[in-house]
Amino acid sequence: MTKGLKQKIVEMVTPDLEKIEIALEHHLKPNLGLVKQIASHLLFSGGKRLRPLLMINSARICGYNNAFDIEFSTIFEYLHAATLLHDDVVDEAEKRRGKKAAHKKWSAPKVVLTGDFLLARALDIAARTKEPDIISVIAKITRDMSEGEIDQLEKKGNLDLSEKEYLKIIERKTAVLLQGACKSGAILANAPKGQQDALNLYGFHLGMAFQMADDLLDYTASAKELGKNPGADMREGKLTLPLIYSLANASQKDRKWMEAAITEPQFDSEQFEKLKKKLYIYKGIEYTKEKAGDHVDKAKACLAEFNDCPSKQILCLIADYSIERKV
Ligand code: IPE
Ligand code: IPE
Ligand code: MG
Ligand code: MG
Repeated sequence: MTKGLKQKIVEMVTPDLEKIEIALEHHLKPNLGLVKQIASHLLFSGGKRLRPLLMINSARICGYNNAFDIEFSTIFEYLHAATLLHDDVVDEAEKRRGKKAAHKKWSAPKVVLTGDFLLARALDIAARTKEPDIISVIAKITRDMSEGEIDQLEKKGNLDLSEKEYLKIIERKTAVLLQGACKSGAILANAPKGQQDALNLYGFHLGMAFQMADDLLDYTASAKELGKNPGADMREGKLTLPLIYSLANASQKDRKWMEAAITEPQFDSEQFEKLKKKLYIYKGIEYTKEKAGDHVDKAKACLAEFNDCPSKQILCLIADYSIERKV
């Protein structure tokens, strides 16, 4: 039997993952016990560490060979953790990484401020590179992510959300961070512009595929697999591609039913199953898988620029994994 994608990746990155865990603990450096508690609740509860791994392997595929890459990579997990803390407050999420969302354990204001602390730690570490290009990539990430989240919030409940608007939201709220992690790795490695651009584009396509997969999982996975509740997007009034496409292609009768179901606050699990069936019938699931698959192909094509090496293999496997993952 062939090894699963996840197992293959884990085997190749385990030594780095162990170092990333130590570095995340070491560089957090909070002065307040409460900040440490809240940040640790999320940080050390089993994230995939995808973003640090992307940065490290982007640097190495460009020939980088210095141990600073591990410390530098924490920037992208701290940024990610900051946005997850904020996102769960905004989305009123119950669970994250299989545990109670932080704001359900502490108050939303404390969690938002801890998110700000994590953001500042990421900036501290970025500043240590004294590399203006890196600092401007990090600034772009934080700017775009907050705007992506605000845009999504503004459009919550909007049943006419177009595919184009959806793509703009997911680019900013998710893809820019993966893109920035890859690009910063290339800058850290002093790579030529062509390689920086290739990794930047790889990260963009990977990020788009990754969020589309996340949006699919919200309909297709179980709570146990996900570590958060499925169906949450729809209950939050968040229209994602499977639903957007299905609404656009549904019969008038079904569209009416779907719209009523989405806006119904007492939506039960039986109705959720019925809605899921419609997403299959009107091919929203299939279409989203297809679009995500196209992005994966484009991401992998960007790697043609580089010579074969373990990091190239890892980036290629991560691209495939982004849409095959169950979590
Ligand atoms: C979750 O990201 C948020 C999205 C951008 C979809 P991950 O799926 O990488 O979450 P963790 O870090 O593994 O928990
Ligand atoms: C992705 O948005 C999270 C961020 C970019 C902060 P979602 O709201 O879809 O992510 P989940 O589903 O809560 O993980
Ligand atoms: Mg959310
Ligand atoms: Mg989601």
